[in-house]
Amino acid sequence: MRTRPLKVALLGCGVVGSEVARIMTTHADDLTARIGAPVELAGVAVRRPSKVRAGIDPELITTDATALVKRGDIDVIVEVIGGIEPARTLITTAFEHGASVVSANKALLAQDGAALHKAAEDHGEDLYYEAAVAGAIPLIRPLRESLAGDKVNRVLGIVNGTTNFILDKMDSSGAGYQEALDEATALGYAEADPTADVEGFDAAAKAAILAGIAFHTRVRLDDVYREGMTEVTAADFASARQMGCTIKLLAICERAADGESVTARVHPAMIPLSHPLASVREAYNAVFVEAEAAGQLMFYGPGAGGAPTASAVLGDLVAVCRNKLAGSNGPGESAYTRLPVSPMGEVFTRYHISLDVADKPGVLAQVATVFAEHGVSIDTVRQSGKDGEASLVVVTHRATDAALNGVVDRLRKLDTVRGVASIMRVEGE
Ligand code: NDP
Ligand code: HSE
Repeated sequence: MRTRPLKVALLGCGVVGSEVARIMTTHADDLTARIGAPVELAGVAVRRPSKVRAGIDPELITTDATALVKRGDIDVIVEVIGGIEPARTLITTAFEHGASVVSANKALLAQDGAALHKAAEDHGEDLYYEAAVAGAIPLIRPLRESLAGDKVNRVLGIVNGTTNFILDKMDSSGAGYQEALDEATALGYAEADPTADVEGFDAAAKAAILAGIAFHTRVRLDDVYREGMTEVTAADFASARQMGCTIKLLAICERAADGESVTARVHPAMIPLSHPLASVREAYNAVFVEAEAAGQLMFYGPGAGGAPTASAVLGDLVAVCRNKLAGSNGPGESAYTRLPVSPMGEVFTRYHISLDVADKPGVLAQVATVFAEHGVSIDTVRQSGKDGEASLVVVTHRATDAALNGVVDRLRKLDTVRGVASIMRVEGE
């Protein structure tokens, strides 16, 4: 056992960072035993130095994060500031000064993961980020290490707790979007500005990270098709129920059938109640992985929160410290397949389309003809209505998004179609 401690600098001491510091202190003996050397909290960078931080020696607090990472005696930087800058510069500076990095920063990794991995490799340091996707759930390491000998074809997940809470509330209590969002805010799930969650940016960043690791290629945030969940209505849930489905905001990463490309997307979708993801309630996350040899795997747990996220950070910290002691590095970026990311138009899925139409002879045939002309095969049609107006619900077989968009554009131009009330993809069948 080495007695000289490994020095850790904490950048950020908010929801996650304060829990990282607490666990480092309360579990110090266990961490020492597991790593093979003590770990010492050598400095904590924050924005507001006067804020009282329970359990943290005030002497360790600094507002000069740059000086902390440049000190030269730091072995590992834990970056839990978030955002792009100054986090990006601090991480690259850390590598230049001989420190490995543990980060929870999905936004930064989804945008600049490749450059950060390269910087880590150039300086012989580690970059670990288990906490960046789905909080406490072990997912990055299983994909990167446990499944390194398999071929992952699909990753389908609920990776945002706030939106899962809102959709679950709408489904279980019949609440509208705003009412459910207000409850999520009151319970501390949704942030004051919930845009990143409800518009799908947070989930898209996680999808980019997952797709890159799962398919050994590079997927950036801009490559991920994204739709938020603010337009989902009580009527959509009623339609979903009629089909034996519920609605979830899904992150879906797929290898194309010919294996030559991949896709990554985030949008609300109907999934059958029999699918394991349908039973993921409240703010929980779950990710379903389909691999060629392993088959179907499901990872489930808390995707956010200080302590759960700190658990993932601490796991990385132990791994990185062990590598430091062994003079080795963990796995870096694996992007050798160089598979291109196809646009959303090439994605194949099923669709549930609700139309308001005139209820008179020939309308159904007219609508069916539009689907046929675009090569979109109809699975079921349900009609209800009175007084010359009808609601038509069409569920398709698998078709490309481009073909479906063609159908919808054409339907909107028909005099007999009063409006396209909703279009929802159907997944997980
Ligand atoms: P918080 O906003 O709670 O904490 C951010 C911390 O960074 C604060 O301590 C803040 O200081 C400090 N900080 C901000 N700017 C600077 C700066 N320029 N220099 C030094 N310190 C700075 O964020 P969270 O803890 O919630 O999130 C941290 C990271 O973890 C993010 O990347 C987030 O995406 C990720 N994450 C968060 C999860 C969660 O449930 N919260 C879940 C999974 C990932 P001060 O305290 O003085 O304000
Ligand atoms: N805002 C995120 C969520 C936090 O609701 O899941 C975890 O990344």
